[in-house]
Amino acid sequence: MTFRTIEWKEGTVVLIDQTKLPDEEVLIECKDYLAVARAIKELKIRGAPAIGVAAAMGVALGAKAIDTDNREEFIDELSLICNVLLETRPTAINLFWAIERMLALVKAQKHLDVKGLKGLLEIEALKICEDDIAINRQIGINGKVFIMENNTILTHCNAGALATAGFGTALGIIRAAWAENKSIKVFAGETRPLLQGARLTAWELVKDNIPITLITDNMVGYFMKKQMIDLVIVGADRIAGNGDVANKIGTYTVAVLAKEHGIPFYVAAPISTLDLTLKSGEEIPIEMRDESEVTHVGGKRMTPKGVKVLNPAFDVTPNALVTAIITERGVAINPYSDSLKGLKEG
Ligand code: MRU
Repeated sequence: MTFRTIEWKEGTVVLIDQTKLPDEEVLIECKDYLAVARAIKELKIRGAPAIGVAAAMGVALGAKAIDTDNREEFIDELSLICNVLLETRPTAINLFWAIERMLALVKAQKHLDVKGLKGLLEIEALKICEDDIAINRQIGINGKVFIMENNTILTHCNAGALATAGFGTALGIIRAAWAENKSIKVFAGETRPLLQGARLTAWELVKDNIPITLITDNMVGYFMKKQMIDLVIVGADRIAGNGDVANKIGTYTVAVLAKEHGIPFYVAAPISTLDLTLKSGEEIPIEMRDESEVTHVGGKRMTPKGVKVLNPAFDVTPNALVTAIITERGVAINPYSDSLKGLKEG
């Protein structure tokens, strides 16, 4: 893939507007942190690792515009900026992880002046971005062993280059297997309501010439029963200490079906997606989004006005349904409380 999901260019944040894909490949230029916060909230940039990168760049952008030479004043204003960014999306832990990392850096550099801090924040945001690509490549290396010749892999939502700084987590593993000339096929669930599978995963894989078949979410059981799916690989928005996985709504359904059909269910995620402060997935906050995402498709209303709608953006897959969690530091298996802790501590 030749495009960059997000870039720092001459003091602005440039990102590909994912709400316009696949029809239009439009770049948006965020000149201030509020524009970055809006882009995250409106899913112009989405996917847990990409949200983390955008937030870090948003912090660096906000810092640049703070008009003071006083260190204390600078830190106070920076905290307000971070609070705005933190309010954008509640489930993806990478948002909180990236902002905490930026703030911790400032607090640790006790003797640096404001100019020095601004420069440091910019360098750190770029590092988070570049590191993410390297991490995804390593997840690809660690995960490709689970894909055998002639396998068909089901994925849900988009855990690809678009959901990260580049290469992808779940799609990174698929890309790594494909690069080894393994003959593989991908089934992508369309992922209602916002169609990240149909719009984004399909766009990425078609671009890369990786064989992809698009199915609607409710076809998964049909194809599993027909033995047309060999394994499932998905991404994650937050993984609790016991290995429960929050990911795009519908993931849990896919995992239950995989269990029923004896199909391995893998989760691919960077260490930054682990939230070991949470004992179980019950504690993961689930984002509820606007009902118009369900009532409308492509701007057209599909339902009678006044119908009651619920729109949770994520669900939690219990650890018992997860065959393994593939990270850049290695692969965790049940009991996850031990294996995840071991990986996090490195
Ligand atoms: O609402 P989205 O599009 O941000 O949801 C994205 C997902 O659920 C992804 O699967 C997850 O963030 C992992 S991306 C590597």
